[in-house]
Amino acid sequence: MSESRRPPFVVLGVTGGIAAYKAVEICRLLVDAGVHVAPVLTKDAAQFITPLTFSALASEPAQTELYNGVSPIPHTRLGQAADLILVAPATANLLGRLALGLADDLLTNTLLASRAQVVVAPAMHTEMWEQQSVQENIETLRARGVRIVGPAIGRLAGGDEGAGRMEDPSVIVEAVLTMLHGADNSTLTGRRIVISAGGTREAIDPVRVITNRSSGKQGHALAEVAMERGAEVTLVTSSSLGIQGKGSGSLSVVKVESAAQMHDAMLQESKDADIVIMAAAVADFRPVLTHGTKVKKDSGHLEVTFEPTEDILAALVNQRGSEQVIVGFAAETDNVLENARKKLAKKGCDLLVVNDVSAEATGFEHDTNEVVIIESNGNEMSIPMSSKRTIAGAILDSVVRSMKPSSGESKT
Ligand SMILES: Cc1cc2nc3c(=O)[nH]c(=O)nc-3n(C[C@H](O)[C@H](O)[C@H](O)COP(=O)(O)O)c2cc1C
Repeated sequence: MSESRRPPFVVLGVTGGIAAYKAVEICRLLVDAGVHVAPVLTKDAAQFITPLTFSALASEPAQTELYNGVSPIPHTRLGQAADLILVAPATANLLGRLALGLADDLLTNTLLASRAQVVVAPAMHTEMWEQQSVQENIETLRARGVRIVGPAIGRLAGGDEGAGRMEDPSVIVEAVLTMLHGADNSTLTGRRIVISAGGTREAIDPVRVITNRSSGKQGHALAEVAMERGAEVTLVTSSSLGIQGKGSGSLSVVKVESAAQMHDAMLQESKDADIVIMAAAVADFRPVLTHGTKVKKDSGHLEVTFEPTEDILAALVNQRGSEQVIVGFAAETDNVLENARKKLAKKGCDLLVVNDVSAEATGFEHDTNEVVIIESNGNEMSIPMSSKRTIAGAILDSVVRSMKPSSGESKT
């Protein structure tokens, strides 16, 4: 990878609750996502989990003390360096101290001596969470711009159930990464982007189709995030999934079923697009013959001969204008990276997103994915296991980096 930008700097505050052990997973996920993580534990947090565990996993040693650490002024060093301060878990006590503006330990001093965005993930028993004082503190913090993630409803310490369980580490990390990377929600303003999604369905007869396992989730997540970043999105999809995105962009949907329909719609819609993303899983083969009436079971057997479908990505590359960015997808099950590099060279697109669809919790039908983005200049970027929205954000970040600036814009 030839990226030379400074990685985002996150102070991970950990406070004294049972969920403190889950902050270890948060630390690991953030480091895996390329974030510089500086852990700060309260005195009580160190009763639940050792600073040593965080020191071993984070980007720098964990700190607990205001006075006898290595840096003479640790609170301002951390507070000023931070792009974001995440407190997870956040105890009722920490929320109260933060709402009041107290500064009686390293974590609260760091929170005060900073202009960084703040995210808190509360975790406590339901009785504590529903306490009027706690709820008022939450509202105060929210009104000041602190992002509150969770809590969820579920199993609590001591076998209890209810509201107050810390949100899942992957959800907290996704919120943090979206705030860090998606902070500029206007990166695609005015850009026309065409995205294909879903698996195509090739008819055998009026009743039966041959299809694949693609759900369309990744393509639809791309459409949502692109719209949130201001793009004028056209989604060419065979999936019946909805779209949840809001944002300042716009969305039009073109429904298709077969590879041939996908081919025609994509070529038509992409003519004047700035960006084209082929996230659909298009059938490689279709039946040579589509029967006009249902083939009856009592005919004994059904023989289907297949022929190759159109190569939509190649056709798009063929018709593209000089400034259009084209993104292909490769779903592989073996020699994943090697096959993908060959595909990128052969197809001539700008970026290829590759995923190993045989791995656990990745690819088709899952809500999560793990991909490598290969750029035509040879850069490769691994995006660890994340939600398909987070993956969508990373793909769009790569697209923006590879786009030529439009007139009046300067690329710095
Ligand atoms: C076993 C145990 C579990 C606790 N779990 C929580 C919790 O989940 N949430 C919470 O707000 N407080 C919890 N507390 C209370 C806090 O540890 C206590 O309020 C402490 O002062 C918090 O300090 P800190 O916010 O500086 O870390 C727990 C206490 C004990 C003894």
